[in-house]
Amino acid sequence: MSAFPSILEGIKDLELGHIKALLRRTNDLKSGQPPRLPLQKTLAVATSFLENSTRTKLSFAMAIMRIGGYHIDFHAESSSLKKGESLEQTLLTLKYQGVDICIIRTNESHLLDQFREYPPIKIINGGDGINQHPTQALLDLYTLQDHFGGLKNIKGKTISIVGDCIHSRVTHSLTDLLPQFGVNVLLCGPDFFIPEEMPAGVNRVTSLDEAIEQSDAIYLLRVQTERHDKSISDKLKNYQQEWGLTFDRFRKHSKVLPVFHPGPANIGIEVEQDIVNSEIWMAHKQVQNSVFVRMAIIEAMINNEDHHIGSQYKKIPGDISERIRNT
Ligand code: CP
Repeated sequence: MSAFPSILEGIKDLELGHIKALLRRTNDLKSGQPPRLPLQKTLAVATSFLENSTRTKLSFAMAIMRIGGYHIDFHAESSSLKKGESLEQTLLTLKYQGVDICIIRTNESHLLDQFREYPPIKIINGGDGINQHPTQALLDLYTLQDHFGGLKNIKGKTISIVGDCIHSRVTHSLTDLLPQFGVNVLLCGPDFFIPEEMPAGVNRVTSLDEAIEQSDAIYLLRVQTERHDKSISDKLKNYQQEWGLTFDRFRKHSKVLPVFHPGPANIGIEVEQDIVNSEIWMAHKQVQNSVFVRMAIIEAMINNEDHHIGSQYKKIPGDISERIRNT
């Protein structure tokens, strides 16, 4: 297995071995085992959330605290980014101040691609536009397998992701992740929320009733109005009636399923209050587990011994080196 990546932008940055090791370490950390950190090292982790968050930012803050690290909350609005400094120079500044990892959330998809070749600092993607949200998908996988009694038991299970799939970075990470563990993933929602091309191993169902009938678990999504243009908002008038999950829907099928949601949920739209108040609502378990999963991710990244972070900036062009040596 390769070293744990220094840039975790998406699920595809991780090998199957990394993912399984993260799930095992999450179990260890949850059962109270101490974190494994480099000796004589003060761990400092920054969060730079350029888009709003409650769960991801605060669960990273809790994870950093539980691991014994220092949390630096970088506020873009009051930083020198506002004076025109680039994100790259900002991240280098954090690195040379002694920050080990920066967790970044942004509304710009693929913003982190620019740092792949020469990472200015170790980076965890806390959600980039509609692209990826890898730590959310990992904590979802952890919670799903925990619910069904272990990784072996989710093989062959079917989960329907319902709602605004096309604008959902969580969906894009889950469809990269869950099929690796033999989970059948179905996407479900109005046509304008479903991608024209399905990801490998993922299928579509065209109604919520069909999703309930075929699934072992439901994963609801928020309608992400902030990412829509007017042409979509005009089509959402009947969303709640057609796609909102209620106990009445389950009654129709004489079946009740665990309901996952990445949060924040718009209660009364994609889900009714009674479901949120009930034991089938898994979102609180997802949030609880998120702290331990994120501890495991920080631990794995901090221990990857990548000594090349920021090092490219010491290089000068070869022709100038040559001239200096010859004078
Ligand atoms: N699931 C999730 O990313 O929630 P927040 O936007 O509150 O971080």
